[in-house]
Amino acid sequence: MQQENKQNAYLVALQQSFQRDWEVEENLAELRELAQDAGLHVVDSFVQKRSYPDPGTFIGKGKALELHDIVDDDSLVIFDDELSPAQQGNLSDIIDAPVIDRTQLILDIFAQRAQSNEGKIQVELAQLNYLLPRLMGKGKVLSRLGGGIGTRGPGETKLETDRRRIRKRISDLRGELDKIRQTRGLQREGRKSTATPVVALVGYTNAGKSTLLRALTGSDVFVADQLFATLDPTIRRWDLNSGRWVYLTDTVGFIRKLPHTLVAAFQATLEEVVYADLLLHVIDASHPQSLEQQEAVEEVLKEIGATAPIISVYNKVDLVDHPIEVREPDQAISARTGYQLENLTQAVDAFFLENYSLQEYFFPFEKLGQASFLRNNARIVAEEFVAEGVIIKAEVDAKIASMLRAFQN
Ligand code: GTP
Repeated sequence: MQQENKQNAYLVALQQSFQRDWEVEENLAELRELAQDAGLHVVDSFVQKRSYPDPGTFIGKGKALELHDIVDDDSLVIFDDELSPAQQGNLSDIIDAPVIDRTQLILDIFAQRAQSNEGKIQVELAQLNYLLPRLMGKGKVLSRLGGGIGTRGPGETKLETDRRRIRKRISDLRGELDKIRQTRGLQREGRKSTATPVVALVGYTNAGKSTLLRALTGSDVFVADQLFATLDPTIRRWDLNSGRWVYLTDTVGFIRKLPHTLVAAFQATLEEVVYADLLLHVIDASHPQSLEQQEAVEEVLKEIGATAPIISVYNKVDLVDHPIEVREPDQAISARTGYQLENLTQAVDAFFLENYSLQEYFFPFEKLGQASFLRNNARIVAEEFVAEGVIIKAEVDAKIASMLRAFQN
């Protein structure tokens, strides 16, 4: 039965011998949430146990035939794992309904959410790269997608164009993206030259990062109870108690089984994470899978090479009926009610006070190169030219302090 004109969807997962029941259930629960978020009505879900995926049809052919009898042809069948182009084509032929996988579903949500020019380009690029190998032969798969999900972004007409035009579009988009990235690189350089520290909010999707950014900086950031509401980096000024201020940046929510095709689409916000001086890992303490989500985020952070220190921030404690014990500098807060936000601000302030020290340097004129190195890597407090050179007072981190020890006054 169709609900409020929503397209019906059926979810399918494979349980291989190394996977536990709860693991598959959790993944399916998340896929269901994703599908609902994409505006679909989930009718039913199926799990097939097999020791390994079938190379031609992913699930067994018999199971695919079963699905053919259950699913009507304007419903969508969504697989929890990435399908090869051939598997997708074969499944669509056997079931006689459009078949997509988790990656394509997430891409679709991304296409709905991307707001900035850059975000839109990244999503279209990811979609085209995903579609290109699927354009061969099995035209049916793609033309079927025209009826529903999978049509946002590149759009139906573009799907019908030949691969050469898609390749050209991909290369144009890459060019545009490079230009945007260069501009952003310059902006980052600009921020670096004032050496204002950057604090990045990271966390699983829906953990409350945007809410926290808004609560801490008093700015008007889009908050929505939907996955991936934040696709583009948002940067705000955050005034700490000691009079120091930092940049606070929001990032895209992470998710388990993050398809690799999508990592590139995350690039814009991930760059902010990699270059940040401090990470605030926002964790939804009220979520039943809070710990797994936390681990998934830590894994992605490792994967992208983020090395900055992390303060874990357990959020939504207003929804939790037991006390949450954390060890300093970690924090338990509620971004919504404002509970313990003052403590969080203090912890971040203390972090910068501990890790940065105020130093005075003297650079003789023949060493002015070192002075500009300092200007690019520290927050300059005062600068005075004297007869033999320049005296600079600056707030530096431990690494820079040890590099410039010889010039300390
Ligand atoms: P993504 O953009 O998907 O990464 O989400 P996000 O982490 O930015 O989450 P967002 O701030 O959009 O919040 C998600 C939902 O959680 C919204 O409905 C918020 O109102 C709600 N929320 C955030 N913080 C709290 C909190 O402390 N308590 C409660 N009860 N709800 C919260």
